Amino acid sequence: MSTVDRSGTFNLGGRSVSRLGYGAMQLAGPGVFGPPKDREAALAVLREAVASGVNHIDTSDFYGPHVTNQLIRKALHPYADNLVIVTKIGARRGADGSWLPAFSPTELTEAVHDNLRNLGLDVLDVVNFRSMFGIHGPAEGSIEGPLSVLAALQRKGLVRHIGLSNVTPAQIEEGRRICEIVCVQNHYNLAHRADDALIDELARHGIAYVPFFPLGGFTPLQSSILSDVAQRLGATPMQVALAWLLRRAPNILLIPGTSSIAHLRENLTVAELGLPEDALIALDGIGVHTDAA
Ligand SMILES: NC(=O)c1ccc[n+]([C@@H]2O[C@H](COP(=O)([O-])OP(=O)(O)OC[C@H]3O[C@@H](n4cnc5c(N)ncnc54)[C@H](OP(=O)(O)O)[C@@H]3O)[C@@H](O)[C@H]2O)c1
Repeated sequence: MSTVDRSGTFNLGGRSVSRLGYGAMQLAGPGVFGPPKDREAALAVLREAVASGVNHIDTSDFYGPHVTNQLIRKALHPYADNLVIVTKIGARRGADGSWLPAFSPTELTEAVHDNLRNLGLDVLDVVNFRSMFGIHGPAEGSIEGPLSVLAALQRKGLVRHIGLSNVTPAQIEEGRRICEIVCVQNHYNLAHRADDALIDELARHGIAYVPFFPLGGFTPLQSSILSDVAQRLGATPMQVALAWLLRRAPNILLIPGTSSIAHLRENLTVAELGLPEDALIALDGIGVHTDAA
């Protein structure tokens, strides 16, 4: 059994995936725009992730744009039967690298075709509709129009399963009236716990919760409590942050992003990191303090 297998599995759109996956966003150039500094190193990270047992990769055609999908195709195509590639649509990049909404039927349809072409697939496993009412966090607004377009593309056979990203509980409810939702991808980590209740609610429905920025994203997690626990356990703070997420709820699937083989290796061992009860209590206090601050 690999260290990834020890993270357990979860049913994502009818397929069993290891709870430890990989997020490909960090493989694009600075600001997730343009090509990577070291293309061979990026390809090596992808190959090592899959060779280590990762069978869930998160991506989007707007990373680069096109860059991470083309790297995934180059590194891993033809894909292993058990590999689930999850992509997302709903945004596009401006010429200056800005992140813009792309909700029109034409933009959504083109995005599905861009993903198919750049990944080298006939059908996409899972497509998340990424809400852009708020760029930095969920904001209310009806998703009926764009989600109905995605559901129509699913009926055409271009998409197997649909998820939602950067959404509120009300948008998830609205979405579930339109089509089956197999996963929700929102910002969540040790210090950013706004979705605590939502995660437990989704678990009751068998829906995967896939936290983005599990390590803090562009602002890496920093906390003296986290550092103290990590030191006591002989682990790095990032490993403890991931191990805490694995313990937090059974429907949480991890997609930590890295462009570094060394960090990838560290991240893929976290299922073996036991967190004693007193460490869990201390770590739980980080989010409570941050949210109250
Ligand atoms: N749906 C959405 O709106 C959305 C938004 C953002 C991201 N995502 C997805 O979520 C995935 C994860 O988010 P993310 O990559 O932005 O953030 P993240 O996983 O929280 O953090 C990535 C950052 O942590 C560093 N890192 C990774 N492992 C490390 C380790 N063991 N020790 C020290 N530093 C480490 C990486 O740098 P190095 O490269 O140097 O390791 C990178 O700077 C993305 O890859 C993407 O697929 C989705």
